[in-house]
Amino acid sequence: MKFFIDTANFEEIKEANALGILSGVTTNPSLVAKENVSFHDRLKEITNIIPGSVSAEVISTEVDGMVSEGRELAKIAPNITIKVPMTPDGLKAVNIFSKEGIKTNVTLIFSANQALLAARAGASYVSPFLGRLDDIGTDGIHLISEIAEIFSIHQIETEIIAASIRHPQHVTQAALAGAHIATVPYKVIQQLFQHPLTDKGIAQFLKDWEGRQQ
Ligand code: E4P
Repeated sequence: MKFFIDTANFEEIKEANALGILSGVTTNPSLVAKENVSFHDRLKEITNIIPGSVSAEVISTEVDGMVSEGRELAKIAPNITIKVPMTPDGLKAVNIFSKEGIKTNVTLIFSANQALLAARAGASYVSPFLGRLDDIGTDGIHLISEIAEIFSIHQIETEIIAASIRHPQHVTQAALAGAHIATVPYKVIQQLFQHPLTDKGIAQFLKDWEGRQQ
């Protein structure tokens, strides 16, 4: 499973990128709204340092608007992936983009059937939202397993991005369930590093080193 970062914050993207673990970035309108910057400028900055997929979401809800917005966003850099919501208009737009060679990420996936429809429309990625399913008392990870199994049985090449990741356990579970990618907030990336025995081990090594015989 590969790692994307789920943020529009450039400092977070730079920090995570320096770790050498990043294969891409996902943004959404809520994440961009927090940043108080021009969306185009921020996407330019991100694509200047990230060679992998950078998801940029359309705001229009109708196919024509989505297509013209997506075409403009795709001009920013060749690694822009157009993020489109899981609606009939969204899938019509995905189908048009796929014929034009523009990569797409179908977002707000909450069922296996939605993922299958998106894949058949030509989506490069589908984004099932784990955390939001858990929030309403459903098992988000079960959805990832279902989609992974269906895509495997039917040899579908669309990649599964485990999204709405809230904690490190989601990351492990998504990897075990067969997600190709997890898009992870910076705070959770930081948490993935943490283990008390690692900290204890480093402290002990340093203590022993200081007390060594010269
Ligand atoms: C994915 O692409 C979305 O940006 C994101 O994971 C949504 O997460 P949230 O449910 O924490 O807002």
